[in-house]
Parts: sequence; structure tokens; C-alpha cells
Amino acid sequence: MKEKKENVGLVERLEQLETCPELTLLVYSIMKGCQRIAGLASCPHAEDIIGDVGEVNIQGEAQKKLDVLSNQILKDAISKSGVVRALASEEEESVVECTDGAAYLVSFDPLDGSSNIDVNGSIGTIFSITSVEKSSVLNESSFLRSGRAIVSAGYVLYGASAVAAISVGKGTDLYSLNKQENTFVLSHPCIQIPPCSNEVALNMMNQRLWDDGFKAYVSDLLQGADGPRQVDFKMRWFASMVGDLHRISVRGGCFAYPRLKSSHGWKSKLRILYEAAPMAFLIEQAGGEATNGFESILDIVPGNIHQRDAVIVGSSEEVKICSSYIQGLC
Ligand code: AHG
Ligand code: MN
Ligand code: MN
Repeated sequence: MKEKKENVGLVERLEQLETCPELTLLVYSIMKGCQRIAGLASCPHAEDIIGDVGEVNIQGEAQKKLDVLSNQILKDAISKSGVVRALASEEEESVVECTDGAAYLVSFDPLDGSSNIDVNGSIGTIFSITSVEKSSVLNESSFLRSGRAIVSAGYVLYGASAVAAISVGKGTDLYSLNKQENTFVLSHPCIQIPPCSNEVALNMMNQRLWDDGFKAYVSDLLQGADGPRQVDFKMRWFASMVGDLHRISVRGGCFAYPRLKSSHGWKSKLRILYEAAPMAFLIEQAGGEATNGFESILDIVPGNIHQRDAVIVGSSEEVKICSSYIQGLC
């Protein structure tokens, strides 16, 4: 009879990857916070979770109760770790200082896909960690570095069960939350995203606002097997980047949120620091690609902590094809 393989927990896996103890402690602390959010997210009818708080955040978006609670849970978990100098969050206008002289900065979207909270749809958390010189002066520009400075990133999807992707720069691992033991256990080490796929995730209702290149890309997808791509495509859209990117991590695909035309010029939806860059890090570590159509997401240096950009991310060949259209090469 085969011996049952022991579950590998988060800390054990990070040790296997020779992660430094302070970074292990930080990732563990963030994931403990996420376990609390998972508990709240699994009570979708609780009246203290559902609905708006009646405030708008710095992005001008209505804050949901779970946005605010998740932000507070992660702020507490991160600052109590003692190894974080400061944090930046989607729900905070400015950076929040934590521990003087500490070695790390954390950027996060506490609750991604907020429009799904009230309907029990896919929601998640996204985070990234960079190092900071212990003696340096701390201000917003400490956070304004390209994604190449990321030392670790992760997401947690609060779906049918809670699952997570984490990378410390040595591949991307998937974990699932073991509810009995209340720990994240390794489910898929070093995932590899298939380079080709016929599944795309995009909001078709923005079509009139796309640039000509992206319109041409989607027009060719829509022609399916009868068009130049010679294959039928499927659309899959959770309206939560974490949900869509988790599906793509597991079986490939291309997520695209291109820039949109507005009366004030081009506008993008997703924020570089705590949405696009951590996801780009995770997807590149899994063999995929991430671009704004012109340059790699990980090479972009944001001008402020809430700056937005276009995002095309997922299976490497499909991301390349989409970029070629955006650049007018197809
Ligand atoms: P958030 O809830 O953190 O503001 O982010 C939501 C983002 C992203 O997760 C999703 O892909 C996109 O917004 C959905 O946008 P639409 O409004 O176009 O559906
Ligand atoms: Mn988000
Ligand atoms: Mn959010």
C-alpha cells in the first residue's frame, strides 16, 4: 500500500525554497490575515459584510463593508509582523508607516472584485512585497519602483474554497486552505501556464472605447474558426481579476483590460502597484507574460501609488498576439 504523502504547509514550503526568515514571517502574516478574510467572505449574508459603507475611496469608488474590513485586517497583520516599514493599499489615500527601520514594503488590494461581494461571486486579495534600505527616508517614492523590485507576490481567491498563488521569485506555487487545520497547504508546486489557449477574459461592453488595434484583435477572435485565427474562442469573465487570473494560472488563457477612450484622453482601470504588477510577477514566474501592449508590466515605474495602466496577461503566445494587434502589427 502506498504511504500517504504528507501535506506541505506554507512555512515548510517557503523554507524549502530557502526564503529568508523575515520574508517567511511576512508572507505567513499576510496569509493569516487572508484566512480571516476568507472566514468573513464565507458568510455572504452577514449584515456587517454586505453592502456599502457610504464612503468613496481615493479612486472615487463606493467602498463596500468587506473592502474596509479586509483593509483593516491586512493593515493589522502587516504592521504586527514587525518587519514592514510601510504599506500602500487601494483603500488608503497615502502610504501608511508601520515599523521604523524594518526591511520591507507591502502593497495590496485588500478585496478585489468588490462588485461580486453582494452576489457571492469571486473575490480575492492581491499583494506584493519589495525590500527597502533600512536607513532610507520613507515616502511615497519608496514605493514607486518597477515590478522588477518585487521579492514576493501573491493572491488569495475566496471562491468555492479559498486558494492562493504565492511566489518568492522561484516559480509560482498554488495552495489551498485546509479548513480543519486552518492552514494553507501546497497543492501545485511550480505551475506552468500553457503558452497557447482559446479562452479570453475581457469586458465586451467597453468595445466602443477600445483603440483600433484591440478592436481588430477581438474582431478576429469573434470570427472564430472561420476567421484568421482559425479556431473558436471562448469568453470567461468573473469581473474579478483574481478569479480570472486563477483560472488562467490553472489552465491558461488571456486576461485583457485595455486602455479606454474618455473625454479626458486614454484611461485605464487596473492599478499598477497592487493589481497589475503582483499579478504580472506571479504569471511570469509561471511561464506566462504580462504587458500593457507596449512594454512589460514589470518594467513600468508608476508615477504615484494609485496609477493605472492597461493590462494584457496570461498565456505567453496569446499575450504576444494581442500586443501585436495593439501595436498595429497585425
Ligand atoms: P476592485 O474591486 O479592487 O476595484 O477591482 C475590480 C477590477 C478587477 O478585479 C476586474 O477585473 C475589473 O475591475 C472589473 O471591471 P468591470 O467594472 O469592467 O467589470
Ligand atoms: Mn482590484
Ligand atoms: Mn479592491
